[in-house]
Amino acid sequence: MAKLLDDLRTENSSLIEIDTSHWFDALLQRFPRRASELVAPSAGSGLLPVPGDRGLPLAGFGIHILRYGPAFQMQLLRRHGPVSWCAVFGRKIVMVSGPDAAQEVLANKDKAFASGWPDVIGPWFDGGLVAMNEPEHLSHRRLMHAVYSKEALEGYIRCMAEDVHAAVDRWPADTRFAAVPAVRELSGQITTRAILGLRYNPAGQRIMRGVEECIRAETAALRLNIPGTLWHRAHSARGQLIGFLAQAAATASAREGDDFMSVLSRVGGPGQGRLSAEQIARHVLFTLIASHDTTVSATLATVYFLGQHPEWQNRARAESLECPETPMAGDALNRLKTLDSVIRESIRLVAPSPISMRLTVKDTEILGYFIPAGHLVSVCTAVNHLLPELWHRPEHFDPDRFSQERNEDRVHRLAWAPFGYGQHKCIGMEFGMLKVKATLDALLRRFEWSFPEGYQAPWRYTSLPAPSDQLPIVLRRVRERTPMRPLEPGEDHPRRER
Ligand code: HEM
Repeated sequence: MAKLLDDLRTENSSLIEIDTSHWFDALLQRFPRRASELVAPSAGSGLLPVPGDRGLPLAGFGIHILRYGPAFQMQLLRRHGPVSWCAVFGRKIVMVSGPDAAQEVLANKDKAFASGWPDVIGPWFDGGLVAMNEPEHLSHRRLMHAVYSKEALEGYIRCMAEDVHAAVDRWPADTRFAAVPAVRELSGQITTRAILGLRYNPAGQRIMRGVEECIRAETAALRLNIPGTLWHRAHSARGQLIGFLAQAAATASAREGDDFMSVLSRVGGPGQGRLSAEQIARHVLFTLIASHDTTVSATLATVYFLGQHPEWQNRARAESLECPETPMAGDALNRLKTLDSVIRESIRLVAPSPISMRLTVKDTEILGYFIPAGHLVSVCTAVNHLLPELWHRPEHFDPDRFSQERNEDRVHRLAWAPFGYGQHKCIGMEFGMLKVKATLDALLRRFEWSFPEGYQAPWRYTSLPAPSDQLPIVLRRVRERTPMRPLEPGEDHPRRER
């Protein structure tokens, strides 16, 4: 009983509160604050100044953000309210959390907010939807809908499903291995296939290494194009990737393939014409970046929570095993309701993409707080996922909260928003969920897993959230499995007779 009470108290609490048991964290927390207001609103405007803090000399709160992620933003919310500011490596950033403030920014009714990503991470998203602003964004987004249609998604899932099963089948059993690189490698393999229609041969692997260089450069402190630096490596990787992708795009429409690039090369461009090979290359590169690490993070979170909660793992496995093993089509994967809730709950607790970055293009206000033009605004939707005001015992892993009876995610539009909200809401949400489901379905059919008692994954936020210890895991083969058989042409995924 005492252990149960202890578990209830501590489960995932480090996601919500900063753990100061390590001396370094205790020191960071004790460092004297340097409170000040962002800027004084003009007299008589009735607006409030944004409260905040300069933090440490030079770093400001940069170390806190990279080390604690949403738990730090939760601290800001509790200390200053839904709108505050802090210095981050020499730059003042407005921090927004709480459902109403987040909705106000992301709905962007007053058109005061542009994409803030190019300012924060550099040129790596250039030419991708998330870096575009109106009216360019709207015309490209309309065009991209065809690439994310149900029919197109079925093609991508077909491309990846067989690879997922074959790759997971090769994962070692009864020995400790690191889940982080294994999941990343698998994602690279299926991403190359589904997005580019390429096998994961050495050329495919080089492409994904280049994509990862660009992802890593997002967090580079030294942003100078000097040989030997992360920034330089990412620049040359991006140059080569764009060159390769533009060449591939020029021939992709003739290929009549099911993959993302082929489909994109066949749809019309904003002025009714086709997109140029260069535009396709830039969209595809952003898609590779946007779809890789996010789904890796979501898969790892789900593997982790299922390992912590064998009862949910057994429920999800039983549901998967009710269907004979075939490469699962999208509809069939979407019928795995337990797995769906488990993934939703996992990315509630550890949101793969915890913030949306915006830049004010004119003086504006958020919930009555004055924000001048030219300021970066970081909207931390992940904090909303953890608020006791919105969720029943938010630190607990409880997939049933998404059931029709409880619908906790519906209390506010921004209560559950791992895929963002507003103009830039993730257009690959369905694709991403299917990719994570296909991986987990393949894993559940083959293996059981758990983590040692008391194990808590050390989530780190230097890039997208991932356990810094690589998530060591021991897989055990599930004894009863039906062998894989291919689907007949036109066959839907049947349920096994009971
Ligand atoms: C679990 C997986 C994923 C998560 C959690 C996720 C999360 C997000 C979030 C939060 C945004 C909004 C960013 C902002 O407001 O600034 C976004 C945008 C976007 N995502 Fe995803 N994403 C995932 C998977 C994918 C996949 C698989 C693709 C493509 C195949 C994709 C493509 C995009 C694109 C193109 C945008 C920009 C949309 C726009 O600006 O109009 N995402 N994603």
